[in-house]
Amino acid sequence: MPATATRQAFDATDPTAFRRVLGNFPSGVAAITSTGPDSGPVGMAVSSFTSVSLDPPLVAFFPAKTSSTWPVVRERGAFCVNVLGSDQEEVCRRLAAKSDNKFDDIAWTPDSDGLPVLTNAVAWIHCDIESVHDAGDHEIVIGRVRHLAVDETVRPLLFYRGGYGRVESPTTPPHGSAHTPHAPAGQSDRS
Ligand SMILES: Cc1cc2nc3c(=O)[nH]c(=O)nc-3n(C[C@H](O)[C@H](O)[C@H](O)COP(=O)(O)O)c2cc1C
Repeated sequence: MPATATRQAFDATDPTAFRRVLGNFPSGVAAITSTGPDSGPVGMAVSSFTSVSLDPPLVAFFPAKTSSTWPVVRERGAFCVNVLGSDQEEVCRRLAAKSDNKFDDIAWTPDSDGLPVLTNAVAWIHCDIESVHDAGDHEIVIGRVRHLAVDETVRPLLFYRGGYGRVESPTTPPHGSAHTPHAPAGQSDRS
């Protein structure tokens, strides 16, 4: 490990340090949306969305056990991942706040299963819950992808060091090669 004058080390049990160091791993932001039997649309902002498996098609996100949205999603057994666009910072903030009327100023339509689909997002990934795993103060939710769609004219919202950013110079890899960030062992498309 190279020692530099600017490298800072922290105790892993310090939550502030944990957030600070991990915040240097940039991500996109997704809205996990669903509906409950006694509620209208529910949703939460997550940066913990990731692809997991190509065959079968699996994705994951990691909700906090304190989330009031997650139990509704779990009971429904299905959710839509809305990858937020660069103009949806306010949508992200609304869905990250604890509120009973998060969707008041958010444009959405129901999909064929009634799951909320957010207008002006980049991509929509409709999933059934495949499995749920315990992980400290969070849970790991594996979703089996049923169908998906994208609007590649919309750029994604980025989350980095607790703030929001945009892609300045997106690359355009050939379709079917670099769109999937990782593949099952032995099938990586990275050179
Ligand atoms: C950019 C961003 C990323 C977030 N990522 C996550 C996440 O991965 N998992 C999580 O549980 N909460 C995450 N949150 C917080 C949730 O959005 C928020 O705590 C939660 O949805 C609060 O509302 P609820 O109790 O109604 O679920 C994130 C918030 C922001 C702003």
